[in-house]
Amino acid sequence: MSNYEVNGRLYSAEPNPGQCLRTFLRDLEVFGVKKGCDAGDCGACTVWLDGKPFHSCLVPAFRGEGRKITTIEGLAKNGELHPMQKAFHDAQAFQCGYCAAGMIMTTASAAFDEAHKADLPHALKGNICRCTGYRSIVDALHGKSNIEEDVAGKACGASLPNPFTDAILTGKARYTMDIAIEGLLHLKVLRSPHAHARLKSIDKTKALAIPGVVAVYTWEDVPRRLYSTALHEDHLVDPDDTYMLDNVARFVGQRIAAVIAETEGAAEAGVRALKVDYEILPAVFDPVAAMEPGAPLLHNKNEVVSQNGNIFCTLQGEIGDVAKGFKEADSVHEMTYSTSRVQHVHLETHGSIAYKGDDGRWHVRTSSQGPFTVRGKLAYLMGVPAREIHVFTERVGGGFGGKQEMVSEDLPLFASMKLDGRPVKWEWTREDEFLGATTRHQMTTKVKIGAKKDGTLTALDVHVVSNTGAYGNHASETLAAAMGCAIAAYRCENKKGVGHVVYTNMIPGGGFRGYGASQTTFAMECAMDDLARLLGIDPFEIRRKNVVRPGDNVESIWKEASDASFGSHGIDQCLDIVEKELTKGNGVKKPDGENWAEGTGMALAMLECGPPTEHRSGAEMKLLPDGTYHLACGSSEMGQGIATAHKQIAASIVGVRARDVDIINADTDRTPYDTGTFASTGTVVAGKAVHITAQAMRDDILDFTARHTGVDLDKCRLDNDAVICGNKRIMLTELHAEGAKVNHRFTVTRRAYLSPRTIAFNVQGVRLAVHRITGEVRILHSVHAADIGRPINPMQCRGQLDGAVAMGYGWALVENMVHDEGHMVNPQLRNCRVPAFADTPHTDIFFADTIDSIGPLGAKSQGECGINPVAPAVSNALANATGVRFAHLPFTPDRLFSKLAKAT
Ligand code: FES
Ligand code: FES
Repeated sequence: MSNYEVNGRLYSAEPNPGQCLRTFLRDLEVFGVKKGCDAGDCGACTVWLDGKPFHSCLVPAFRGEGRKITTIEGLAKNGELHPMQKAFHDAQAFQCGYCAAGMIMTTASAAFDEAHKADLPHALKGNICRCTGYRSIVDALHGKSNIEEDVAGKACGASLPNPFTDAILTGKARYTMDIAIEGLLHLKVLRSPHAHARLKSIDKTKALAIPGVVAVYTWEDVPRRLYSTALHEDHLVDPDDTYMLDNVARFVGQRIAAVIAETEGAAEAGVRALKVDYEILPAVFDPVAAMEPGAPLLHNKNEVVSQNGNIFCTLQGEIGDVAKGFKEADSVHEMTYSTSRVQHVHLETHGSIAYKGDDGRWHVRTSSQGPFTVRGKLAYLMGVPAREIHVFTERVGGGFGGKQEMVSEDLPLFASMKLDGRPVKWEWTREDEFLGATTRHQMTTKVKIGAKKDGTLTALDVHVVSNTGAYGNHASETLAAAMGCAIAAYRCENKKGVGHVVYTNMIPGGGFRGYGASQTTFAMECAMDDLARLLGIDPFEIRRKNVVRPGDNVESIWKEASDASFGSHGIDQCLDIVEKELTKGNGVKKPDGENWAEGTGMALAMLECGPPTEHRSGAEMKLLPDGTYHLACGSSEMGQGIATAHKQIAASIVGVRARDVDIINADTDRTPYDTGTFASTGTVVAGKAVHITAQAMRDDILDFTARHTGVDLDKCRLDNDAVICGNKRIMLTELHAEGAKVNHRFTVTRRAYLSPRTIAFNVQGVRLAVHRITGEVRILHSVHAADIGRPINPMQCRGQLDGAVAMGYGWALVENMVHDEGHMVNPQLRNCRVPAFADTPHTDIFFADTIDSIGPLGAKSQGECGINPVAPAVSNALANATGVRFAHLPFTPDRLFSKLAKAT
């Protein structure tokens, strides 16, 4: 045995041959060391060796012998946070917190000196954060505090810290995989190397002969039940077109077989030893080609219902008379715009652990945005009652819609059920994510738009083709969203739209922040700018003239009345703010040199807060014997800060500090039902549930007090930790004790439904410079204004918008999943990039001053829509700078310079 000193503690252990330090430390149960890539690209695994930071996934474990290894757990001393931990605390420089350990280990090291601080784009190039947009991390490094005091009764509207801050920053927070379980088995899958193939045979013999391999499962072993991996309340909105394991592979990366072994290494060896005989089938990748007669068919029509061959569904509608509207137009613009396939890249990959508990039930610990919906699907697939399955989350390291999908829970549960309830873990690699998780739907949108000379729209015709890839999860819903807000944002009497969702042999699409609306917002906002240019009208003015106003019906292409209306209306303010800020400027000049062109662009986005289909959330609140409260919510906390916001909502209603309300989330045994945390529902549905539950709690306490004391109810009121009752002050602890005597439990549960929905807006302004020869783009000024009602936690809302805007810049300028005949050629973070610090401009974030009449405590949704106007604003700025319309994402230099070269 060798000796390793980790955080001052000596361990006698021997790493496996070839084992990296990251997995070795985690084997020692040092779980503060995280994994985002295992390839040196993300920095989540950063530890110190003799005080110097290293990516531990790149360091052979044996090199740690005889050296002082320090991880995030070893940074605080004598109960005092390290100054950098304290700085991250005060600035709240994290959201999901999954990157925080690595960020802190990098920036807290002695090597990170003033010169590094002065050059953060280089100094932080080895650490990626997908949530924050880096602004709050800069705040931490500059010693800025973003938090306010937690005052009883004033929680709502205060910038209070995340309640799990200290646990996250000291490495004590437990994410999905941060647990040691005795007897744990490991699951790995073989993924298809072919875009379309039938499995003729799978030979398991060699795999089963590998020491440690305990089982191999193929399509012949698992229940043959069709389902969809998408998580929705109504399972009918997604096609049942997927099997747990199938005998036909429809995209490169589809799982073919699962190997279960005593170690991860044995499971991987087992996967490599499987011998599969494939019959290669013709494949189709382009959705237009897939719609042609004679195109290879993806699904057997006897099993999967699609409308027409590979066309899974078509949505269409018309209001008014579009033909007449175009005749009345003075100018008509028509163009096709397209958006690219990108992935969520939540830093914590998918993963689940399933086991049989002492209670005889099945337990699934998972990283999910919808554990209740997962439970329903698992029960259906395994053929057991839902009550026998418990699904729960621990801390979730980011989601962005990627975990609104059941992709990692079914196989471990199935294997555990087959293997006497032994715990089975499936932790995805980053490559698993790129090959096997879902992406944003690639969409192509043709827009035809007509207007009078003064800019008044007369007709709008939109044609969308959505490539859903091999399976239809989220396909119809994202198309419905695509045909919704972006079109409904503008008043026009004559609107028409047709949209098709098409199966191809590409990686499947799924839900992703912005959910279809991002794609058509890109097209619509570029088209509005093109139309404005045609008419010689300012881009802000054409939007002011046509954007929907209070009193308008919220109309897209369907005649049916929508349940969405204006609980508040702040788009005018957002437009004014962004225009004023861009006009004022920020003093940043374009680089020197005649080849740099400068341009300004803007775009707006509208969001119906919540999906049009049913969504429900419950909350339970209890008064505890010590006079504090316990809140249980079914929604998932994944870094969007919903736990903080829910505590603030509850605390403000019962008049205490937020810290006097503890919270648990997303657990099918311990929290009330929640459809899932997606589609902008965390505040407006789950938050509403918390709001009415806290009101019921307050009423229950006051009612009991009045009955108990004989004082009139209207003379009783809550006052922090007591009830003022006439001229008496009765402590909540006393009331709780009195309640216990008469079996009054001070426990209330309420449920909220989505409808009616309110509407939020976002406006993005961009000034940029683009190099005509190299295609390099530099963002000089970035301004974002959001109409999100009353911010429950302004710091957190700003952080959500920072992250959403950064993701928008990533989509526009950096991220690029490159496929060749269905094969992803760059399934690594270093090649299929997400924005690093150097790629992410600072954005000035502003809020419109609105208080919503529909959302809880005046709030609206805020985390989702910020991404939507960014890419079109960039395209509009590029058009302004160069006169060239870049209509197809992404705007990577290689794609820009060739077009710019032709234009000059
Ligand atoms: S896990 Fe080591 S750098 Fe990403
Ligand atoms: S907070 Fe940085 S990845 Fe989530």
